[in-house]
Amino acid sequence: MADIETLKQETRVFNASDAFKENATISGMDAYNAMCADAAQDYEGFWASLARENLEWKKPFTQILDESNAPFYKWFDDGLLNVSYNCLDRNLENGNADKIAVIFEADGGQVTKVTYRELHQQVCKFANGLKSLGIKKSDRVVIYMPMSVEGIVAMQACARIGATHSVVFGGFSAKSLQERIIDAGAVTVITADQQVRGGKHLPLKIIVDEALALGGCEAVRNVIVYQRTGADVGVTAGRDLLMSELVASQSDVCEPEWVSAEHPLFILYTSGSTGTPKGVQHSSGGYLLWAMLTMKWTFDIKPDDIFWCTADIGWVTGHTYIAYGPLAVGATEIVFEGIPTFPNAGRFWDMIARHKATIFYTAPTAIRSLIKAADADEKIHPDRYDLSSLRLLGSVGEPINPEAWMWYYKHIGRENCPIVDTFWQTETGGHMITPLPGATPMVPGSCTLPLPGIMAAIVDETGADLPNGQGGILVVKRPWPSMIRTIWNDPERFKKSYFPEELGGKTYLAGDGAIRSAETGNFTITGRIDDVLNVSGHRMGTMEIESALVAHPLVAEAAVVGKPDETTGESICAFVVLKRSRPTGDEAKQIAKELRDWVAKEIGPIAKPKEIRFGDNLPKTRSGKIMRRLLRLLAKGEAITQDISTLENPAILDQLKDAQ
Ligand code: PRX
Repeated sequence: MADIETLKQETRVFNASDAFKENATISGMDAYNAMCADAAQDYEGFWASLARENLEWKKPFTQILDESNAPFYKWFDDGLLNVSYNCLDRNLENGNADKIAVIFEADGGQVTKVTYRELHQQVCKFANGLKSLGIKKSDRVVIYMPMSVEGIVAMQACARIGATHSVVFGGFSAKSLQERIIDAGAVTVITADQQVRGGKHLPLKIIVDEALALGGCEAVRNVIVYQRTGADVGVTAGRDLLMSELVASQSDVCEPEWVSAEHPLFILYTSGSTGTPKGVQHSSGGYLLWAMLTMKWTFDIKPDDIFWCTADIGWVTGHTYIAYGPLAVGATEIVFEGIPTFPNAGRFWDMIARHKATIFYTAPTAIRSLIKAADADEKIHPDRYDLSSLRLLGSVGEPINPEAWMWYYKHIGRENCPIVDTFWQTETGGHMITPLPGATPMVPGSCTLPLPGIMAAIVDETGADLPNGQGGILVVKRPWPSMIRTIWNDPERFKKSYFPEELGGKTYLAGDGAIRSAETGNFTITGRIDDVLNVSGHRMGTMEIESALVAHPLVAEAAVVGKPDETTGESICAFVVLKRSRPTGDEAKQIAKELRDWVAKEIGPIAKPKEIRFGDNLPKTRSGKIMRRLLRLLAKGEAITQDISTLENPAILDQLKDAQ
């Protein structure tokens, strides 16, 4: 992995072809600069005209930005609209009824195509089904589903009736699911009997049963089950219903629930540096506006495009760039159930070739692992596939190192596709800093420039602006339409986490460090400045993993740090003190395995530490504070050259030096 010093020295610059530029929605830097100038001159007017042009309103808004209760900003608050209407009905009215909305490819390769008309019908029927169960506007519905058309239908159906959904990634454990169900106060859980990934059938409904059995979820009246595999997963009478039976007798007409632009479309849980996951609450109007604008600006979406975002609907990327954005702009999108390495690591390239994908959006971790796979097996090297349909590539979720960028550019894009390295977060709702493919010169490893209207800046701890060339804290100085509205159930934490007093209380703190190039002004993200890890583009709090570890009966104390990893970007390294003597050899291996499995059960397999090291103690200051900076060095295997005079127990460093 390239470190920040290498990135700073990156001098290669790439531009889109003239042909791409000519046809691009935003063509050339003059066009970009003009939009930035418009936004700077009349900030509210800029967003208001975009919101009028892009969204269909039942009742037009008269207020644009309401800052009276900052940082609880409101956008277009008195306007009424419906997100599902904007994504579906609008396409029926403007000639897209028979256009393919979704090309779904199952894990085993079966392909199902769904038109806008069919998707609309399915959503209306399911929405009526939800209503028949008494689910109404503002109720919360947890969705724990595999990648499927039905997953998208579930999200859109909630939007249609004004219920707020909270999708929980299918890899989370029963305990994580239970915590989210309780925090959201969900009245219904929508799930599938099983999910199918890499040829394996994995449980979902059984995990929902376990989650509900853990207690505290009494608000849940129903569990709706989509039958993916038909496995017998048991039925709790009076509570469980099959999705197919629920929709069977429903009408395919469902009048949308017209809601305020500020109505919470969804809550999505994400990790913070402390405590339990945060329920990031998003709006309806501002959020959908952003999903549409970024489909147009960043992805340059055109009517003939076949768009493929490989994310899961359990993450924000799957919300904005699978469930909402592509549909709102009337695109055709690919939805994939499986994994990139099944039946072999050529699956993505094969799918691009077969479905003639034109825009491909994935994560650096996937790219890095597929580079390795292609190096190891010539037969599935992307050069062997016809990728000529591609015209644009995207990257998301974590820093992309220049070597991976170059490989992506050369072997997937054939040096003919711009790459948009999109920096954003669950909290931002959509892209924030990214090249515009027909305008911005691209530099490998840099997310380049903020979207028009995004007032991103780099400041020091006091909020003072830093000059280009000097690394600091990434902030956004003005509210934007798709920003997080609050943390569900915890407005104080929202203020503290994102609008801290030290920065004046009105500046959005992203939680990332960044640096701008002295020459170009391009942004490069230098990584999180808090205790949040990014493993394979999945965000995880060190505290969450530590709490899971110390909940194990054998563990006295644990500290978790991130360690650079060639494939996954970062990996999890846990330093553990047991209540008994420090284990070594096979016994250490055995206990480490037990702890890993324990974390998988507590949080989910994505949170399993890659490495566990046992010590008699942890390096602490005399006042008892764990010195994480030393643990990070130990994890990396670097020599400790700093002053360790404040360290209570220096001998411990030797013990923790080696992985067991
Ligand atoms: O650290 C940044 C990193 O991912 C974090 C956000 O994670 P999450 O909320 O899970 O959203 C992921 C999907 C948008 C950020 O704080 N990150 C995201 N995109 C990039 C990135 N780091 C560098 N470059 C990116 N393009």
